[in-house]
Amino acid sequence: MLKTARHIVPFILILLCSELLVGANPRPGKSVSFNSGWRFHLGDIDNGQASVVDDSSWRKLDLPHDWSIEGEFSEQNPATPGGGGLPGGVGWYRKTFSVPATEKNRQLFVEFDGVYRNSEVWINGHYLGKRPYGYSSFEYELSPYLNYGDEKNIIAVKVDNSKQPNSRWYSGSGIYRNVWLTTTEKVFVGHWGTYVTTPEVNSETARVEVSTRIRNSISTDQPVRLTTLLIDATGSVIAKSLSKAVIAKGGGAELQQSLIIKQPKLWSIETPYLYKAVSEIEQNGKVLDRYETPFGIRSFSFDAGRGFFLNGKPVKILGVCDHHDLGSLGAAVNTRALERQLEILKAMGVNGIRTSHNPPAPELLELADKMGFIVMDEAFDMWKKKKTDFDYHLDWDEWHKRDLEDMVYRDRNHASVFIWSIGNEIPEQWGDDPTAGSIARELAGIVKNLDKTRPITSACNNVSDKNGIITSGALDLVGTNYAHQKIAEFPKMFPGQKLIGTETTSALQTRGSYDMPSDVIRRWPIRWDQPFKDGNADMSCSAYDNCSAPWGSTHEETWKAAKKSDFFSGIFIWTGFDYIGEPTPYPWPAKSSYFGIVDLAGFPKDSYYMYQSEWTKAPVLHILPHWNWKQGEQVDVWVYFNSDEVELFLNGKSLGTKRKTGDELHVMWRVPFEPGILKAVSRTKGMIVKTEEVRTAGKPARIVLTPDRRTIAADGKDLSFVTVKIVDANGTLVPRADNLVKFQITGAAFIAGVDNGSETSHESFKADHRKAFNGMCLAIIQSQGKAGKVDVKATSDSLPSASTSIEVR
Ligand code: GAL
Repeated sequence: MLKTARHIVPFILILLCSELLVGANPRPGKSVSFNSGWRFHLGDIDNGQASVVDDSSWRKLDLPHDWSIEGEFSEQNPATPGGGGLPGGVGWYRKTFSVPATEKNRQLFVEFDGVYRNSEVWINGHYLGKRPYGYSSFEYELSPYLNYGDEKNIIAVKVDNSKQPNSRWYSGSGIYRNVWLTTTEKVFVGHWGTYVTTPEVNSETARVEVSTRIRNSISTDQPVRLTTLLIDATGSVIAKSLSKAVIAKGGGAELQQSLIIKQPKLWSIETPYLYKAVSEIEQNGKVLDRYETPFGIRSFSFDAGRGFFLNGKPVKILGVCDHHDLGSLGAAVNTRALERQLEILKAMGVNGIRTSHNPPAPELLELADKMGFIVMDEAFDMWKKKKTDFDYHLDWDEWHKRDLEDMVYRDRNHASVFIWSIGNEIPEQWGDDPTAGSIARELAGIVKNLDKTRPITSACNNVSDKNGIITSGALDLVGTNYAHQKIAEFPKMFPGQKLIGTETTSALQTRGSYDMPSDVIRRWPIRWDQPFKDGNADMSCSAYDNCSAPWGSTHEETWKAAKKSDFFSGIFIWTGFDYIGEPTPYPWPAKSSYFGIVDLAGFPKDSYYMYQSEWTKAPVLHILPHWNWKQGEQVDVWVYFNSDEVELFLNGKSLGTKRKTGDELHVMWRVPFEPGILKAVSRTKGMIVKTEEVRTAGKPARIVLTPDRRTIAADGKDLSFVTVKIVDANGTLVPRADNLVKFQITGAAFIAGVDNGSETSHESFKADHRKAFNGMCLAIIQSQGKAGKVDVKATSDSLPSASTSIEVR
């Protein structure tokens, strides 16, 4: 589906027709999904790869799969609360499949987009290899060990995530990304075998350089013709290049071609136009391989004084950092869930994503290409020095070169990838460690060897000219984490250097919770692994944007400093979405983060609208908090808006008109509470732009269900996210409602996850019920691969039931 891949011969499509339903694209030039019909056993098995192992009683499942998300929360789980308190362990996966005899002369490969972690793979008992890093993509050739015809093949995968902690956040466990089966002739484009760059771009022409690695696994030299076609978004061939070569027996060759596109349509954040390079290898008039590489044409530069330029225009990078988990779906990748996250961020005005702190699922980059995001693709969270006892530092010596190369090979054709990060907050940056510079230079060399078109950074929290990574000269862009108070001094600290805020902010917020007075900032110097000293009894953080980690800032503090500093190319806020694990500042039972601008269920917190008012042209008017307080209590009313002025009314009486002054990002009224209606009216040049109200809610009276999409695809993967609100008799959200909501599904769909955004809830994400949290919860409905109508019914004691329907087609 989203796969750049190779020619697949028709038999595979017939043989694996069930695979088509789960996302593979049957057009030539694609691999087929190898996700369905696996058997899974949680726990270790001696010789689990052996053909004699009877796996008939193992659980049958389709990939991607994350077994940790199915488990129970416990402080005793070795992942620790930092890892989300969910179980790890060892798991085995096996799949039985057959290959017709007609395929004997072809090559079959299996490709894993990611397995967390320590995967080992066998085909028919033959050991194919091991990959410790849970975020790398890799492939193995199967053909030499395959049985053809009626005899079956067994592929077995052992996943070992038992040694923990090995991550500072929730990792998930298992084959949590897609698996593909690729078939080629014996002369074919190698794995990640093309490299497309656009070294010259202007409005008249673009020069497109295509390098194609062709492999020949036949025992004689093979003459071939390589035709590269450049195809625009309408499918028209707009440029063509033909090369001839003889590919040495058992070897490979890299062919270079240069093509010109006239009047190129440039890729940008607003119009992410994509072309496709199609590489066809021909011999005696027969096409042996057809390989597609989507690419974009854009020029960009970073300037020490003026920041980032895209296609010649200054653009501030307005980015967020995100981890890979998808809330209640865990680490198991789902394209629609990723797309929804990006849609929510795009609507806020976000234009950049940092894949903290590891290579992402390929689907994220494909979506970023198509939706127009600037991606900072990050390799590692540590090098040789550890952050947790069993993390990647143990694998560093043997694997870092391979893993870094694989990231660059895999991702270097993506239009959305603009920055390579060789690491986040690397411990070697502290204390005059001489290896900081040598490792940084080594890593930069590995990257530059494969791609010189993008700058290299490292996210440094030692923001000083004493940092050995920064002083090594290995970085093209100095990446600063936090230190917002010093932004204005950066040009003096790092003279002549290009600068980017690789990580900023770390504000802490719980959706729908408010601590007053709102202008007192709480910076809680405690983390989940330290004793609980302070804070709210319900373990909430205030959504007024008056709470942050001590090393960070509120949202407004950093944005105010970053926005006025042109030399600062942009920021990546920690984080766009809440994630599982790292429940700063509270200890257990807190189990997920408070850093998100959007909560774990995908519901925006109030600061979302501050950014939207600054980062988009859409008229924004947002009032906080809710309007259920004690009579006479003094309540701070904040309004985010982007028109000239705003007037506030309480029960029809004007409380005055305000404009933002200086660098203010909101206005505030201190209002003695009386129940009723608080209304804001925004105006520009005296004309009303928008009106918004918050009302005092009565008792819970109804459930309101709102699917984000009423029609989803019958592909077994697509999702509808159903927002559940507990409202009063007038339809007003009841701000503290925590009713338990039960879901019943009829039709060809199931509940893929439930959530409510609470950081402390230990209810299972895989259930048919969920308590509302601050008035809301979520049910994620997944298609089962069959068309039809799906009814979703929600019930809750003492409330009338509600229902909605989704069409699957
Ligand atoms: C940073 C780190 C992130 C996350 C964040 C929380 O220092 O890079 O991974 O831990 O702090 O504030």
